[in-house]
Amino acid sequence: MGESLYPVPAQWAANALVDEAGYNAMHARSVEDPEGFWGEHGLRLDWIKPYSTVKQTSYHKEDFGIRWFADGTLNLCANALDRHLATRGDQVAILWEPDSPTDAERRITYRELHEDVCRLANVLKAQGVQKGDRVTLYLPMVPEAAVAMLACARIGAIHSIVFAGFSPEALAGRIDDCGSRIVLTCDEGLRGGKKVPLKANVDAAMDHAPGVECVIVLKRTGADVPMVEGRDIDWHTATAAASTDCPPEEMNAEDPLFILYTSGSTGKPKGVLHTTGGYAVWASMTHQYVFDYRPGQIYWCAADVGWVTGHSYVVYGPLINGGTTVMFEGVPNYPDPSRFWQVVDKFKVEIFYGAPTALRALMREGDDWVKKTSRSSLRLLGSVGEPINPEAWEWYHKVVGENRCPIVDTWWQTETGGAMITPLPGATALKPGSASKPFFGVQPLLLDNDGKVMEGAGEGCLVIADSWPGQMRGVWGDEERFFNTYFTTFAGYYFTGDGCRRDEDGYYWITGRIDDVINVSGHRMGTAEIESALVAHAKVAEAAVVGMPHEIKGQGIYAYVTCNADVEPTEALRKELVQWVRHEIGPIATPDVIQFAPGLPKTRSGKIMRRILRKIAENDVSSLGDTSTLADPSVVDHLVENRPALA
Ligand code: WT7
Repeated sequence: MGESLYPVPAQWAANALVDEAGYNAMHARSVEDPEGFWGEHGLRLDWIKPYSTVKQTSYHKEDFGIRWFADGTLNLCANALDRHLATRGDQVAILWEPDSPTDAERRITYRELHEDVCRLANVLKAQGVQKGDRVTLYLPMVPEAAVAMLACARIGAIHSIVFAGFSPEALAGRIDDCGSRIVLTCDEGLRGGKKVPLKANVDAAMDHAPGVECVIVLKRTGADVPMVEGRDIDWHTATAAASTDCPPEEMNAEDPLFILYTSGSTGKPKGVLHTTGGYAVWASMTHQYVFDYRPGQIYWCAADVGWVTGHSYVVYGPLINGGTTVMFEGVPNYPDPSRFWQVVDKFKVEIFYGAPTALRALMREGDDWVKKTSRSSLRLLGSVGEPINPEAWEWYHKVVGENRCPIVDTWWQTETGGAMITPLPGATALKPGSASKPFFGVQPLLLDNDGKVMEGAGEGCLVIADSWPGQMRGVWGDEERFFNTYFTTFAGYYFTGDGCRRDEDGYYWITGRIDDVINVSGHRMGTAEIESALVAHAKVAEAAVVGMPHEIKGQGIYAYVTCNADVEPTEALRKELVQWVRHEIGPIATPDVIQFAPGLPKTRSGKIMRRILRKIAENDVSSLGDTSTLADPSVVDHLVENRPALA
């Protein structure tokens, strides 16, 4: 298949912040002189005490450490709000679109947002929250989610957002791990016309999170939720009575800003820790350059604040840059598949940033849903979270963007804080399906399986050679795990967990995870987590979970389950196990296929051969490879013969 190349449109090259020559010069300087480059670009923030040192980083065991702007002090909330008040106090900061198009939108100016944040910050302080304390947010896509993040940042508390689609069990684990004494939630969330019982979930989580002393409850649907005397506080009542005066706390650049739990290849989800100064520089600078963003432009990132994309590109990046950021409570196909593009028209959105899984789902509904909207305001499109297949890319470009809008396909991770490999719209000719070139300061390398650096075109393991300001700083509560997870597979490099191809033009093509992590609808899931949920069921002896190709979700969840000896594997049990996993983790972990397996393919030393399980899940049984080393090769035949027919 001949690959297409979309050159930079002339107006973009002429008007963007950087053109190709500008990108090349800036990127070269950023890696040759990181100290000088970031010393200058760090000044995009307002510092209380300026930094005198810029980069103090090492990926080596002897002197491992990652510190940026380490002696500077600042407050991130003041950078996102206070410093805009004089020039853009009356500009809309958050443009909120509710789940239902018949409900009213909200337009919150910088001045109003500043007031709301100060009030909530004072409520948190009155509850005894101090600098360094962890605050768990379990909130839907309402402006108050951003208010809560910023209120924490204002007083130096560390927020930990738990996606509002997670189960009470998953919520409790995350509350407990970081030792939050306080949880912010709402009565019910509303998504696609369905109510999500968030307060009830928090109540259910309390059995396993005994440390919680206070729950602040926002009203969204007005449902009559029971309030626990002495523990639960009504958000509106408390904030209405609070002062709007709350001076921002002076924070060190390396003081923690937030924890965000994400799945790895082993164990429980880990609390990825980001700190203040470097993260703020990275989130705001990538937001500015990747989207060629100018203050006041209407910008919409359709991610949820429960994921890192929502942190960096719904809230922090755009607000630090004086932007108008759209927050959407709903889903792409409710009440119908025109919803996204109707919101684009309603708010005259210029920049839209979404996930391939949503685009694939909308593409399947046909072009008419798109074409009946105008979309004439759109200038730039973005993609994030998983590889975008060239077919979806072409559809996005041609049908949604009417061949007018460049697409920035941004590769990054919870760990990286912001975009790492991405086109810049005025600088990079586009290849559908390629995240293209590294952002400033990023040095991607491909290593072969022996850890040797590959030159030129080829495919290997994607590592990053040196630190960048937005890099995570640690795993909450487990210092060793940070170094061991990311810096030991290939000594001296940050290992991403992704495979990647580099072509003759130096473009990067992410091929997907090469560890036991799968990407379901852009959501990252550890196969080990789903396995431990399954084996926690009384009738399950053993489970192995792998990814399978899925037309809409990118990857689906394929679970092999061995039942206890006395258990009959029935259709009813299959359904029960699906519900069980949803209950243990949340609907995003719903298995697509459960295959009952009397035995799993294991080596003689007892290690499950996942390679074989992946092949069977992919229905690629002609190339199972050598099975002679298995303890019992016949289990493979059984699995192949009994592979369930897929819908
Ligand atoms: C994993 C990180 C990016 C923030 C949201 C997801 C995959 C992400 C792309 C892309 C191909 C991508 C990678 C990565 N991924 N963006 N543009 N092209 N793959 O963050 O949950 O930490 O997941 O998502 O496999 O490692 P995350």
